[in-house]
Amino acid sequence: MTPRSPLALNAHGAPLAAVLAERIRNAGPISFAEFMRECLYHSEYGYYLRPIAQRFGDYYTSADVHAIFGRLLARQLEEMWEILGSPRPFLAVEAGAGAGRLAGDILDFAAREFPAFYAAIEYIAVERSATRRAKHAQRLALHTAAGRVLTVAEVPAAIPAGCIFSNELLDALPTHRVMMDGGELREVYVGLESEQFTEMLRAPSTPVLGQYFRKQGITLQEGQQAEVCLDACRWIEDAGRAIGRGFVITIDYGHEAHALYDERHNRGTLLAYRNHTVTENILDAPGEQDLTAHVNFTALDLWGRHSGLARTGLVTQSQFLVGLGRANEFGDLYEPGQSEVEKLRARLLLKNLIHPEGMGEKFQILIQHKEIETPRLTGLSGY
Ligand SMILES: C[S@@+](CC[C@H](N)C(=O)[O-])C[C@H]1O[C@@H](n2cnc3c(N)ncnc32)[C@H](O)[C@@H]1O
Repeated sequence: MTPRSPLALNAHGAPLAAVLAERIRNAGPISFAEFMRECLYHSEYGYYLRPIAQRFGDYYTSADVHAIFGRLLARQLEEMWEILGSPRPFLAVEAGAGAGRLAGDILDFAAREFPAFYAAIEYIAVERSATRRAKHAQRLALHTAAGRVLTVAEVPAAIPAGCIFSNELLDALPTHRVMMDGGELREVYVGLESEQFTEMLRAPSTPVLGQYFRKQGITLQEGQQAEVCLDACRWIEDAGRAIGRGFVITIDYGHEAHALYDERHNRGTLLAYRNHTVTENILDAPGEQDLTAHVNFTALDLWGRHSGLARTGLVTQSQFLVGLGRANEFGDLYEPGQSEVEKLRARLLLKNLIHPEGMGEKFQILIQHKEIETPRLTGLSGY
């Protein structure tokens, strides 16, 4: 395979490069999944864990576009609460809550529009990065004072009734990479050649990689590269195990397995983001750039079944938001006293969230449920 143009180890002053190079010198090549885990989550230099977060420097998510995203999600959560029989508490567990923006939008809206639901919510903002958790205090102060929100580092082990949801979490989990080579599945490792990081193919680090494709009826073509996110499989299984009765909502870019592993994705979907620029130079500047791969929604469905989750539905972000927003013609977009220009601006931002060429069809929403008889959700009602 062709190495992806490696740079000198300390390129761009990335101190993690030196740490990883030393480790490879001492113990040999590491799987790409291990390399990515360190790039994103190394305790000191990982992209998401280091003290100076690159918020808005490299990427933005739907939650950053406009509060309508959180407001419509709040409508969906409120409906789920009713379907569950209005339990108190209803645990709304946001995994990978970042700086707390989505949490703030959901709770502000729930407090204003659904007082009974707000009184029942226990909002758990789960964020692995301490730097990002610290930002929650600022954004969520009012709701913390009202006793409605907690900030933690891990998803609680027991959620009697509620919903675990995430926006762009699973694409940021470390992924294995494989390639079909000479009729055999081989795994991508990262080693050193002339003091530069380089990719190399080796036997799979675990037989689970082969089982993963067999379980989904997928056969890779000769020369085809692909990602296998075993962390996402574990994550969804754990989510199902934690939930007693309730839902899991996964918002992310990705596909069902048959589309994710088709000829259009022959080189896989892994990309690096830096300063809003996409690059395939994924070995560059470890810890300095965001690494991400598309989510396999079929795998989430199949692995979720191991812990009792059933598929409620999979729709585009556009279908989800239109389903929830059309009843009041997206009246939730506006604030009292806004000028016509401000309203126009809000409508343009909504367009970005739902337009097929914007985020509307790039992002998918998978909803799964547990211990509920065929729930009907407005977010899945389509156009
Ligand atoms: C791409 S960011 C998305 C942040 C936020 N959801 C948003 O929409 O802006 C992914 C976030 O998930 C966090 N994260 C990654 N793995 C996690 C885990 N196992 N538990 C909790 N948070 C995690 C990262 O630290 C990061 O803040």
